[in-house]
Amino acid sequence: MEKVRKQLEQDLAGATSAEAVEQIRVNYLGRKGSITNLAKATDFSKLTADEKKSFGQKLNELKSFATQAIAAAVEKCQAAAPKRTASIDLTAPGLAHRLGSLHPITMTQMELEDIFQGMGFSVLYGPEIESEYFCFEALNIPDDHPARDMQDTFWLKNHLVMRTHTSANQVRTLQRFGAPVKAIFPGRCFRYEAVDPSHENTFYQCEGVVVDRGISVANLIAVMKTILSEVFRRDVTVRLRPGFFPFVEPGFELDLQCLLCGGKGCPTCGDGWIELIPCGLIHPEVLRHGGIDPKEYSGFAFGIGLTRLAMMKYGIRDIRFLNSGDLRFNEQFSPVF
Ligand code: DAH
Repeated sequence: MEKVRKQLEQDLAGATSAEAVEQIRVNYLGRKGSITNLAKATDFSKLTADEKKSFGQKLNELKSFATQAIAAAVEKCQAAAPKRTASIDLTAPGLAHRLGSLHPITMTQMELEDIFQGMGFSVLYGPEIESEYFCFEALNIPDDHPARDMQDTFWLKNHLVMRTHTSANQVRTLQRFGAPVKAIFPGRCFRYEAVDPSHENTFYQCEGVVVDRGISVANLIAVMKTILSEVFRRDVTVRLRPGFFPFVEPGFELDLQCLLCGGKGCPTCGDGWIELIPCGLIHPEVLRHGGIDPKEYSGFAFGIGLTRLAMMKYGIRDIRFLNSGDLRFNEQFSPVF
């Protein structure tokens, strides 16, 4: 045993790697190792009980000595092993950080806000979860009105709905600010809609109202023309056709003369005109809901299809791209980054 122990100490002293120490462990403590063999090579029948006992004790001592010495040797080798250090090449070109980009609807909305603010409008954002009252009732659309079918929506509890149009902010604004007032309300709207290239269940509008003394259709046309000329960066021609919406009287569809064909007619517009902005003079009943006396004040309202406008501005043919969350799509339009 003494010989084996000395030999082990020598072997360990000469080992310089964890692999070498592992080999030593196998040589001594493995199934055929020299310490294991010590017991096998001993004929216990020739020993007295005391001799057996002392042999067993010594052998155990040797085993635990070997185990500890080997563990210590492994640790020593690991500590001595050269540490891996990260090498940095300061001259290598850096990794480009991807910058985000603005969504085409966001850009269109920001542009509209700028233009309207330049004309003295306030920009307000109402809630996307709206009361049935502001979304329908205050706008002359009672429970049994067929106009509700056109705007089927997602109903929540307690007479709350996902707003179907930004017109829901009209009466909110009148109640809050009174007259005179000039404001726009851009935002997201929701309808229970079968999705196809031109219909989405989630889309954006930009509503606006102007209420003051003596507001007429002439003011409506002038403001719309100015806005659209700014948006499309050139003089535009518009026309009004009658249109029915319960909350305006008279109500109109404002068409834009097609910018591609100049009004001659083309595959994009058909007959030379593009239906763009429903609008009208605010219905006296709506003014009353807003706490405003229709004998004293009048006003106009308009609902710009923001999603539609963004599609026209950026030449997007399928509305579904807009909510796809696909960065490859979004990034194409941003001039900012
Ligand atoms: N809220 C209507 C819709 O989403 C659009 C609209 C029509 C808004 C006429 C108006 C308006 O302000 O005067 O279908």
